[in-house]
Amino acid sequence: MEIKVVQDAKSIDADILVVNLFEGENTSSDLANKYAIDEDNFKGKFGETYLLPTYGKEVYKKVLVLGLGKKEEFNPDKMREAIAKAVKKSMQMEAKKVAFSLDGIEFDYSEQFTLGAFIADYAFDKYKSEKKDNKVKEVYVQANAEIVEKATKIAEAMSFARNIANEPAQFATPTELASIACDLGLDTKIYDKEECEKMGMGAFLAVARGSIQEPKFIHMKYQVDNPKKKIAIIGKGITFDSGGLDIKPPSSMLTMKDDMSAAACILGVMSIIREFHPQVEVHGIIAACENMPGNGAYKPGDILTAKNGKTIEVDNTDAEGRLTLADALCYACELGVDEVIDLATLTGACMVALGTQASGIMGNDDEFVRTLIDTAARSGERFWQLPLWDDYFDSLKSDIADMKNTGSRWGGASTAGVFLKKFVKDVKWAHIDIAGTAFFEKPQKEFIAGATGAGVRTLLNYILEQ
Ligand code: BES
Ligand code: MN
Ligand code: ZN
Repeated sequence: MEIKVVQDAKSIDADILVVNLFEGENTSSDLANKYAIDEDNFKGKFGETYLLPTYGKEVYKKVLVLGLGKKEEFNPDKMREAIAKAVKKSMQMEAKKVAFSLDGIEFDYSEQFTLGAFIADYAFDKYKSEKKDNKVKEVYVQANAEIVEKATKIAEAMSFARNIANEPAQFATPTELASIACDLGLDTKIYDKEECEKMGMGAFLAVARGSIQEPKFIHMKYQVDNPKKKIAIIGKGITFDSGGLDIKPPSSMLTMKDDMSAAACILGVMSIIREFHPQVEVHGIIAACENMPGNGAYKPGDILTAKNGKTIEVDNTDAEGRLTLADALCYACELGVDEVIDLATLTGACMVALGTQASGIMGNDDEFVRTLIDTAARSGERFWQLPLWDDYFDSLKSDIADMKNTGSRWGGASTAGVFLKKFVKDVKWAHIDIAGTAFFEKPQKEFIAGATGAGVRTLLNYILEQ
């Protein structure tokens, strides 16, 4: 799909011209009147669509009236969802050329228009022997060309991330993630098991031990002269989370190929970063491995030593993400960066608290956290702050080591947060739990079922705004 910015969408010989209608108002295009919209059946409620023929009297073949709901309730998030709806409708009708003539919208919709169109355009059909050929090829719209161009790149990075996260665990192995990282054309270093041992990454390596898949520690660098800031972004990269010896029940294991969604997000961000030439140094870091209960598997009761020398008593092998992140955080903090942001499908507890509607965010600097929450909101994602009080550490106290990796059932997202905090030193740090937002089991708003590319939009906008 390609988005073309035009002056007058109505002059395009499109298969479908999309016009909008706010509930209870008239379409400015008066097409609705001309071709007799049935007002009893279509009032312009949000998400409703109404198709009108043009009887060969216009350059476009059909008009799709897109309901946007009440004007006073309309906002950029609804814009993105509505455009996705129109694109999906166009796909159903096998329209190849779709023009949008949008009126009366009181904000610059260019970014959300572009994101909505590309999110709707996404399909993961590489394993279908019969592929649908229902893609919209050209989209025409009156919008800000520069913003459309920027948002197109962000959307590409999202699709890149979604493809990686949707890939089954049998293919998206740590080695495969490393090879994808190397192909991005950045200055990239892959540390194998022996090198990780030398660096003292005892927590990360313990998780990897139960799998025949070799662990890979991935470090991608985007560098510029005299950077305004140095940022490290870390993504949890468990390519499959069986739970390990504390094995998950089948229903919980079913979607666990998605446990590298955060790694996919980092790869998505790093895949496009050079095209924006941001004046910041960005380090993309992934500790990739598989959590399996194989022969060498780490066991409950084992004591691990992380890169910073802290010892961890394994309470539950299914709390593996924080162990891999512990070493990744230590590594990142040694790079001399100003800020570290980690993303992870870390806790079911975060998903219980916030559902699939928001990611949880915690950090050691409230202003930093607030900036990320604002950036997310403007990017069309939701981050919601969860507490990171030291009290949550009580349940992680160990009799024989510096800490355990899990404690009580309660407050699981914050407990994981305070665990991670023990491996952060002298930097601004934020932790984003995307357990609920990274992968949808059924379609939700503009997304089909599967990976969502959570975090990509926000991280890119955050980097671009420095
Ligand atoms: N990868 C899971 C968290 C998860 C759960 C992500 C559901 C997405 C959807 C993580 O490794 C995990 O297993 N966490 C445990 C922690 C527990 C053992 C303290 C959990 O949340 O149950
Ligand atoms: Mn787990
Ligand atoms: Zn996990």
